[in-house]
Amino acid sequence: MSGLFITATDTDVGKTVITGAIAATFKARGLHVGVMKPIASGAVADGFGKLVAEDATFLMGAAGIGESERDLVNPLCLSPALTPAVAAVVSGVEVEIPAILKAYQVLAKSYDPILVEGVGGITSPLWQDYLLADLMAELALPVIVVTRPNLGTINHTVLTVEYARRRGLHVAGIIINGWNEGEVSILERSNEEYITHLTGVPILGKFPYSRAISEGEIQSVELAQLAEKHLQMDEIISIAKGR
Ligand SMILES: Nc1ncnc2c1ncn2[C@@H]1O[C@H](COP(=O)(O)OP(=O)(O)OP(=O)(O)O)[C@@H](O)[C@H]1O
Ligand SMILES: [Mg+2]
Repeated sequence: MSGLFITATDTDVGKTVITGAIAATFKARGLHVGVMKPIASGAVADGFGKLVAEDATFLMGAAGIGESERDLVNPLCLSPALTPAVAAVVSGVEVEIPAILKAYQVLAKSYDPILVEGVGGITSPLWQDYLLADLMAELALPVIVVTRPNLGTINHTVLTVEYARRRGLHVAGIIINGWNEGEVSILERSNEEYITHLTGVPILGKFPYSRAISEGEIQSVELAQLAEKHLQMDEIISIAKGR
């Protein structure tokens, strides 16, 4: 089974955008790529009253996966914008990890590779004391950490990588998201250098800040073009394929 687990140093860092960009590129290169957002919180109801996760919608669009697969791509969707373990309790539902693993197995029979987007950061509680890192360990996919370019990112990135290692996970690469090449200063340059030096993990690219992305107007073709230009896609494919 091949694929990647994409986590980040925090919520809102760009996991969905980066996972979508990699998915769109894999698809453009002819791979039969699958995507998964195992648990989403902060979801809103669609016109039929069904809770839908924006992250799943974005990932499915990028990978060209139809609506019929939604419940496998996102087996659990919760309304409160809280960490999943708490959002579930507030919603009166139980997070069934075996059901999530089952959905992954079903997807893995149809798609290869599979890109799994994390939830929040690496220690996000999914259910009681079961953390995102526990799910990552069960899936045993190579990990990519998405990180911010700005102040504070060295600490967040080093802590995330070290925690992943402590849990026996293989952090294969780091992607800096929201890089604005025209405005980089000693801050961003030194962050990049320190992250490489302190983690020993290769930076697989610096994904640019794009107004089309922040305004929700980016198309899959453009996402793939940005990824081809700014991410080391050959290397990312090799990692996903376990080479
Ligand atoms: N490179 C970028 N350029 C412009 N906007 C971006 C970029 N990356 C992310 N964003 C915007 O920042 C916000 C957070 O990004 P995203 O949803 O990918 O984060 P996330 O880590 O997946 O968050 P969550 O923890 O909720 O899943 C979104 O509104 C997204 O459109
Ligand atoms: Mg997301």
